Amino acid sequence: MHTQVAAKRVADSEVEQFQTIMPNHLNGAGRVFGGQLAAWIDVVGGIVATRHANHNVTTAAIDNLQFKEAVYENSIVVLHGKMTYVGKTSMEVRVDSFVEDLSGERKLVNTAYLVEVALDDDGKPVQVPGLICETFQERAEWEAGERRRELRKQRRREAF
Ligand SMILES: CC(C)(COP(=O)(O)OP(=O)(O)OC[C@H]1O[C@@H](n2cnc3c(N)ncnc32)[C@H](O)[C@@H]1OP(=O)(O)O)[C@@H](O)C(=O)NCCC(=O)NCCS
Repeated sequence: MHTQVAAKRVADSEVEQFQTIMPNHLNGAGRVFGGQLAAWIDVVGGIVATRHANHNVTTAAIDNLQFKEAVYENSIVVLHGKMTYVGKTSMEVRVDSFVEDLSGERKLVNTAYLVEVALDDDGKPVQVPGLICETFQERAEWEAGERRRELRKQRRREAF
């Protein structure tokens, strides 16, 4: 029997996560280890997609790790994740990472787009709910998400 999956809003799965930077998060130069930030981004992207799909998910791709600001011990890192686009079984999640100083000012460290695929109980890709884009920004992200999906397909075809 085919089950219709009701579309969900971006706000239904949005996530904000905070981390205090401790000595075990640093590299030898005293800055946050990039692999640690990547792990936090992956966790946030996975939570957003899991909440949207109400299924287990796996990360198929992560686009773009650039470190625009150095992050040091005792800083607060804020990760904000939200749905931007859905295909049939895949979802695109945007995760912004910021460093927040004592005044509360946030500086952008990285913007990543993750492709998460929803899995059924047998580990096979399963259909995900549609995405209701309510704001101008959400609709703009959706349109850009369609272009990013095409670019990823082209990269896969070219084995890039
Ligand atoms: C992601 C995975 C489940 C896709 O399986 P598959 O057999 O290729 O499934 P499909 O071809 O049906 O693709 C499923 C969806 O994923 C998308 N997809 C698959 N590989 C992708 C990639 N490399 N980049 C972006 N999207 C991808 C497809 O476009 C499709 O999207 P749609 O349903 O919205 O149209 C499979 O490649 C996998 O298990 N990879 C390992 C993931 C993993 O273990 N991640 C943990 C970190 S290592």
